[in-house]
Amino acid sequence: MSDLLSRAGRAPGMRVLDVGCGVGDVLLLAARIVGEKGSVLGVDRSASPLEIARGRAKRRAALCETATISFVEADLNTFEPDGAFDAIIGRFVLLYVPERASMLRRLTRSLRRVGVMAIQELDVSSLAQTPESPMFAQLRRWITDGLKSAGVELDTGSQLYATFLRAGLPRPQMVCAQLVHCGPEARGYEDATQVLRSLLPKRNRVATATEIEIDSLADRLRQDAVARDAVVFTPWFVSASSSDAILKRERGARC
Ligand SMILES: C[S@@+](CC[C@H](N)C(=O)[O-])C[C@H]1O[C@@H](n2cnc3c(N)ncnc32)[C@H](O)[C@@H]1O
Repeated sequence: MSDLLSRAGRAPGMRVLDVGCGVGDVLLLAARIVGEKGSVLGVDRSASPLEIARGRAKRRAALCETATISFVEADLNTFEPDGAFDAIIGRFVLLYVPERASMLRRLTRSLRRVGVMAIQELDVSSLAQTPESPMFAQLRRWITDGLKSAGVELDTGSQLYATFLRAGLPRPQMVCAQLVHCGPEARGYEDATQVLRSLLPKRNRVATATEIEIDSLADRLRQDAVARDAVVFTPWFVSASSSDAILKRERGARC
């Protein structure tokens, strides 16, 4: 995300909007990049992650000079921000928004003429293990079926290009990253278990915590992988950034 922001070429002092900021991981990174002359507004529809993000921002402000950080609780399906932004950023949020192109189109009205839209999303279907065990195959089924039954789209990352164009944004630059978890220290087993745990309540009729034996799942996944020297490929992290400024620079470079 810092790479995406710096591609806009004018990071310090920016006014940034972080959509679906959650507990503030990306927001705090953006605050560091824009510096004390900049400001970041985080928006999320859920009060509890916002509360955590507020606490983290307060602790940051107590430790050092930082950007002006503020938050608003709102639903992105209808949210109309006040004022103009130099950058609108978001990570792992479009997958929850059914009408994402129209949401981006609406938010773009609050983007300055040379502003940047920078979004990172996942492609869950690229989650894989090599060599694959029956236990991992079952885990992937639980996760993908759970996400589908919660109405979440699995390939929001690959769809970013089309989503940006449908939103009327300039053609984005895109990059993709994938981590490979291996060995006993890897935290991918806990991450996957955490995702599955978040899918358990109500909406997921795929399996219950008891059937999954969720409390011991991370340890069993680790033992299974370590015993076979297996590696786990995380879902693709697909990033797209788009701005008139980036497009002009690209064209200039070609001349
Ligand atoms: C997976 S978390 C990502 C949080 C953060 N962007 C990050 O990368 O750490 C998704 C966040 O989007 C928020 N969210 C999902 N749909 C939303 C909507 N329609 N309006 C506002 N926030 C939404 C959720 O409440 C959650 O905090």
